[in-house]
Amino acid sequence: MPELLHVGLIGLGVMGQRMLARLADHPRLRATRIWDADPAALARTLAAHPQLQPADSADALVATPGLHTLYIATPPAPHMALSHRAFDAGLAVFCEKPLTVDFDAARRAIARIDRERQRAAVNFSLASSPGLAALQAACGGGVDAAIGALQTVQIELAFARWPRPWQAAAGTWLAERAEGGFTREVLSHFIFVLQRLLGPAQVLSARPDYPADGRGAERALTATLLAGGVPVQLQAQVAGTVDDFNRMTLQGSTGAVELRDWFGLQQRQGDGPWQARGDPAAMRQRGQADQLDQWVALIEGRAHGLPGYAEALAVQQTIEALLAGSPTAPA
Ligand SMILES: NC(=O)c1ccc[n+]([C@@H]2O[C@H](COP(=O)([O-])OP(=O)(O)OC[C@H]3O[C@@H](n4cnc5c(N)ncnc54)[C@H](O)[C@@H]3O)[C@@H](O)[C@H]2O)c1
Repeated sequence: MPELLHVGLIGLGVMGQRMLARLADHPRLRATRIWDADPAALARTLAAHPQLQPADSADALVATPGLHTLYIATPPAPHMALSHRAFDAGLAVFCEKPLTVDFDAARRAIARIDRERQRAAVNFSLASSPGLAALQAACGGGVDAAIGALQTVQIELAFARWPRPWQAAAGTWLAERAEGGFTREVLSHFIFVLQRLLGPAQVLSARPDYPADGRGAERALTATLLAGGVPVQLQAQVAGTVDDFNRMTLQGSTGAVELRDWFGLQQRQGDGPWQARGDPAAMRQRGQADQLDQWVALIEGRAHGLPGYAEALAVQQTIEALLAGSPTAPA
């Protein structure tokens, strides 16, 4: 039987709980030791998962004998420091996005990863999705793509409320301008997809709209970008009645393909009707299972499709330029 791979988790909020639930079904990855800076979060998690071992600090957790990997699900600020602690202990790291808003710290971590051949990846959930594979086929002129030459990309997001209901229990950081907001939290997934498909994006114009209090996260964002020579239109806002609306459309010369509602995929020829490709629920499940399998490959030092820290930093650079309303130089 293949060896079980022991996972330590730091950050036991909304995403930490989701990851614990996903790990419970995985044949190779086994959640073992946990820590959170908030003792109440640690206690709640232990009550729900009594088989887990609590650590009393991040240092104690990464030093756990037999641990293979660290999953980091704190807000962005501690991501880099926790990554270094894990590297010091020889662990592979799977870190939540956004990587960090401290670009110098990210560059130092990336230099170390390259120099020491550390194993590190970032959890952009679409990285292993069938939808991304289909868009890659479309951009590469794959036989099942049939959209012709790519002409434009459109990304649309809308949220009835921010934070979304399922993240209502997250810390206040998520609703604040310094580290939170839908651009970092949600748009970053689609900028990841865009840049993986077409390479680095140039921000041509960006208009974020912030509340007057100077503290709250953006309420709307419109922007135009250029990626791989293709114009990209972006529209996002806290408005409407749908909790989490998202759509990324690739319009080609003979047809179009779009990601919808995260893992849904549909396609059309010319101006014909949109046709669903595959069952969104099944594709979500497959994408999430594949994501964990890719993590196993990362731990074992095998090839994998997860974004590394350099790819995640490139996403974050585009995201922060959008939030600053700052055009960027040609990529
Ligand atoms: N990949 C995805 O689809 C996805 C979805 C949601 C959130 N996220 C990301 O996951 C991360 C966590 O988000 P969340 O919604 O779970 O937030 P959250 O506020 O619900 O939970 C964060 C937890 O981290 C703990 N924490 C804070 N600083 C810490 C530190 N220095 N050391 C240890 N623990 C610390 C907090 O006490 C809290 O329990 C963020 O980076 C977020 O953007 C990713």
